[in-house]
Amino acid sequence: MIFTGGPNSVYDESSPHFDAAVLTLGIPVLGICYGHQLIAYMRGGTVAPAENGSEYGGTALHVAGGKLFSGVPENSVCWMSHTDRVSVLPEGFVITASTDNCRCAAMEDVKNGIYGVQFHPEVTNTEYGKRILGNFLFSACGCSGDWRMDDFIENTVERYKKELEGKSVLCALSGGVDSSVAAALMHRAVGENLTCVFVDHGLLRKDEGDEVERAFRERFGQKFIRVNAQGRFFGRLAGIRDPEKKRKIIGEEFIRVFEDESRSLGSPEYLVQGTIYPDVVESGKGDAATIKSHHNVGGLPSVMDFKGIIEPLRDLFKDEVREVGIKLGLPEKLVMRQPFPGPGLAVRIVGGITKEKADVLRAADAIFREEIEKSDTRPSQYFAVLTDTESVGVMGDKRTYGYTVALRAVVTDDFMTADWARIPFGVLESASRRITNEVKSINRVVYDITSKPPATVEWE
Ligand code: XMP
Repeated sequence: MIFTGGPNSVYDESSPHFDAAVLTLGIPVLGICYGHQLIAYMRGGTVAPAENGSEYGGTALHVAGGKLFSGVPENSVCWMSHTDRVSVLPEGFVITASTDNCRCAAMEDVKNGIYGVQFHPEVTNTEYGKRILGNFLFSACGCSGDWRMDDFIENTVERYKKELEGKSVLCALSGGVDSSVAAALMHRAVGENLTCVFVDHGLLRKDEGDEVERAFRERFGQKFIRVNAQGRFFGRLAGIRDPEKKRKIIGEEFIRVFEDESRSLGSPEYLVQGTIYPDVVESGKGDAATIKSHHNVGGLPSVMDFKGIIEPLRDLFKDEVREVGIKLGLPEKLVMRQPFPGPGLAVRIVGGITKEKADVLRAADAIFREEIEKSDTRPSQYFAVLTDTESVGVMGDKRTYGYTVALRAVVTDDFMTADWARIPFGVLESASRRITNEVKSINRVVYDITSKPPATVEWE
């Protein structure tokens, strides 16, 4: 059993708690972050705010020993994100790792099979996170680890072959990695019964609409439909500044467009979406705090014409989705391309959205991507953001008043956490020079040097 992290305090009655008897069932238990604190609290220990303030980000971890740390060196880096910490250890536990700011960074009661870590072993920024989770699963729990990606593909295809036999299915295709893999997977399951609809909402990157059309027209022929819905989206977004409202509007409008298409296709019963696990977690399903309503989860309107929504990738992380894509024979270029959010440039235009702003951002973004792609550096995701700030500049002895563009590049495997990319100054310099020269209304370029957390990858 794993009790995960969360933004709560153990002393708050509305925080998630469990029956203390759970810890006497004889089942191995691991607590992470809040889960670790909760275990300490429920076993009679004390949790208190750290005296030296919060710990966020990469932190030096000193290992003292313990079952969970077998094979982990004495000194490594872990990922911290907390304010409270375990200040008094519960009975029967020993401290197995510390940081300079947190004496009980990990604890265990091997006799009862109970383990706790204050840091996040599940993110790649924790150097030996996989090893620690592996020790819990294979050593403490005795798991064998025989799940294979091929089984996932086979089981999913078999499942939907049966469930959707003879049914017509519509796939929402954005041309991004997730929906492309979802489409290929479902195509294997239902073949000709699948129609892919690609909505061009006017918030795609430069030339993207045409590129997507080219790639999928070849694969799906007449079963690929492109809908040019730019006017509809810009109309509904006019004057809206709130990021959550924008996401909800886009999610709803997407569905309305699909419904309209579906009517003209004789009303397919099912809709396929490329939702992946981080979308589900970050949209606050279950008790997770809502960070952002990802357009294909929290943004869904409650009334839909479809009998059901199919999300074959909703349990997978991005790297796993890519593996599925490669195994299904999708072109590597498509599968390995950087992710692009469903709401598109809408989450990269701070404040109100207009077609003019989208055009400005499209031009700047294309230049930044070109400059990165010309260089040897390859962050996991890189793009431009149009901030809501205008500032004074000077060009050819004349005063200008123009937009500020922020460049964003991050390094990550799973997009749940990310570090800002240390891209070479030369790349930043040429991107900045070209953007200010080639995009008329931009006179200032800044680079975003924040990791996630505390920021998110997208600005909205
Ligand atoms: P954040 O901004 O949440 O981004 O740190 C993490 C990853 O998710 C992508 N993202 C989205 N993808 N619909 C999507 O399909 C969305 O609404 C959405 N919002 C963020 C983002 O590009 C990054 O890769």
